[in-house]
Amino acid sequence: AGWPVLSDYVREGRPGKVLTSRAELPPAFRTPLPVPRVLEPVSTSGTTDTYDITQLHAELEILPGLRTRAWTYGGTFPGPTIVSRSGRRTVVRHRNELDRPAVVHLHGGHTPAASDGYPTSLILPADGSYDARRVHQDMSGGSHGMSMDHGAMDLTEGTRAYTYPFDQRAATLWYHDHRMGYTGTAVWMGLAGFHLVHDDEEERLPLPRGDRDIPLMITDRSFAEDGSFQYPWLDSGLRTPGVRDAYMNGVLGDVVLVNGAPWPVLETERLRYRLRFLNGSNARLYKLELDPQPEGGGGFVQIGGDGGLLEAPRRHDSLEIAPAERFDVVVDFSRYRPGTRVRLLNRFGDGSTAQVMRFDVGSGHPRDDTRVPRKLSDVPRLDPGRASVVRDFHFRGSSAGWTINGREYEPGRALARPRLGQVEVWRFTTNFHHPVHVHLDHFQVVSRNNRGIGAYDHGWKDTVDLRPAEAVEVVTRFTDYTGAFMIHCHNLEHEDMAMMGDFVTE
Ligand code: C2O
Ligand code: CU
Repeated sequence: AGWPVLSDYVREGRPGKVLTSRAELPPAFRTPLPVPRVLEPVSTSGTTDTYDITQLHAELEILPGLRTRAWTYGGTFPGPTIVSRSGRRTVVRHRNELDRPAVVHLHGGHTPAASDGYPTSLILPADGSYDARRVHQDMSGGSHGMSMDHGAMDLTEGTRAYTYPFDQRAATLWYHDHRMGYTGTAVWMGLAGFHLVHDDEEERLPLPRGDRDIPLMITDRSFAEDGSFQYPWLDSGLRTPGVRDAYMNGVLGDVVLVNGAPWPVLETERLRYRLRFLNGSNARLYKLELDPQPEGGGGFVQIGGDGGLLEAPRRHDSLEIAPAERFDVVVDFSRYRPGTRVRLLNRFGDGSTAQVMRFDVGSGHPRDDTRVPRKLSDVPRLDPGRASVVRDFHFRGSSAGWTINGREYEPGRALARPRLGQVEVWRFTTNFHHPVHVHLDHFQVVSRNNRGIGAYDHGWKDTVDLRPAEAVEVVTRFTDYTGAFMIHCHNLEHEDMAMMGDFVTE
């Protein structure tokens, strides 16, 4: 209630939508929902689990009968799911066998700067096909009009190891490419996967687990006649005349994929399921709803968000989920009659994008020994009254591009220098619509337009959906790691059009 209207960010009629160039879209609700495989560590010691991922091209069958050449983590889209334990170190060694540089960011990770995936910390292709000169050319083209210094780049050839201490609570994280000027391209082409963190607190709860704990990465894509992904500026960066203007508001597709499959279907038993929704789309905002709703409504029981468990469950009829946000919900399919087919709709969509997937509820009467406890966790409140600094970040668009505080992204230039341990209020304002993401630590939303917080703002978050003419205040405290981290819009085309900034913790 009282939320400002949505911008044309969610409207289908605007430029920015790419259409699949086949007359017919694939039929909905035919493909069984795939669940990404869980990656096995290559070695494990008393403190550390080590994983290897090779980034490579792969031919996937996403649309029936067609091959899609994707850029993948380990040959699949989404990439394999990594499952870590809070308090144990995870090392992921990424080998780049693609034909262009890569950067890996763990979204939501409390990660030291050296492993955070700074946008110019590149893994060059293992075959030696790139040198610093070529990288430099790419960079200055990729993000509009930017100059940068060779010295600011940190180049690794072939393989780079990322170290994640996981001194953080259980949460649904994800990893994706983060190369300066090319994040939208790389993610669209397939470079994204889940990284889940578990801890004792979460495991003591009687929540659904095992094959009833399912990560769901929702993305939209469009396809060319031959099955390949269609993205408007694949190799050109943003230099292509006309293209950049048409896609200023971000790129939308017309095929909705869940875990890489178009409008899939999942057969469920009449039991509770934990569904971890991630909006992995470049620019699309969804309003998810179960159709039919279970009697009495409140079909989504939210137990967690970006940064792990909420204090107490919250019931929702719908979920508005912006790019990069996660909603961890329990759906109790025993509230439906045996044999009900429950569609997951997108109320912000239109035509092919108005539905997402379907749950086909079984006919048995199995006994459910799971439940959602009234208390989930302790979430200590950060007190904005104790903030020693209030910082303003203005997200602004103009015909010239997308800026934060009037600046386009420039590596090495700090928009803020927070001291570790200090409570800070960050205030985000805009004339448009931007999902704002902050690296390193989660924050808590304090207010929207000086009023209370929205229905989807509870708990620890790392991405907050900033709507037109809004001012959103969050309270945060950065801990443990000094160095350069990012704040940016997670509309990936905005990010690539330089709506990003460094902040340097000291
Ligand atoms: Cu999900 Cu800086 O990104
Ligand atoms: Cu934006």
